[in-house]
Amino acid sequence: MIRPGSNKATNNDALYIRFKKNIRGKCAAKFTCARVLSCLHGEGLLWRGITAKVTSNDADLKWSCDYVKNYVSLLNEINIHLYDIIDIDTWGSPAKGLEVLFKRKYKGIVICTFCNPVPINPCKILAESYYGALYTKCKRKSVFGRDISNMFLDYLNKNGAFNIEGLFAKQKIYCKFEL
Ligand SMILES: C[S@@+](CC[C@H](N)C(=O)[O-])C[C@H]1O[C@@H](n2cnc3c(N)ncnc32)[C@H](O)[C@@H]1O
Repeated sequence: MIRPGSNKATNNDALYIRFKKNIRGKCAAKFTCARVLSCLHGEGLLWRGITAKVTSNDADLKWSCDYVKNYVSLLNEINIHLYDIIDIDTWGSPAKGLEVLFKRKYKGIVICTFCNPVPINPCKILAESYYGALYTKCKRKSVFGRDISNMFLDYLNKNGAFNIEGLFAKQKIYCKFEL
């Protein structure tokens, strides 16, 4: 099994690459040349062939990105308002990054594509927002990890996201929305 953080958990689940590229292509097509901040850019597969001005970031130096930073720090530090699209292609929950976008009142398109491939404890931010005290008091956090789509959709709605589109499956969320 490929786990996030292992050196095999590199770049995307291959079967869905076309779907993930389509989401990005559709978002970019709304602009003549969209200004994109690709927060977890890796080798840049998901933006290859799409007309856009992509500013890249990756925590790993080997990808020679414009920025080499933890993406949450990056979102806190740079002028995110310069970008039409912010792309957050995380391995796990993107909520820590989204918290920054909400706090900084970002206005634009956000793309979030992520999986929850194994039954693990859910993201604390999402679960607390969805289940409230039920989650906080319960010791077996893993029982809350089965419904990430509903948790994520609820979280987006509570934070004013609109035009939400994409795939919301039990273990995969590939979507775009606007803020
Ligand atoms: C999450 S995937 C993104 C794949 C990428 N979108 C692509 O098309 O190739 C893997 C990449 O995310 C990077 N990464 C993982 N955690 C990160 C973090 N907290 N901040 C920035 N980059 C991160 C890894 O170094 C790796 O290159």
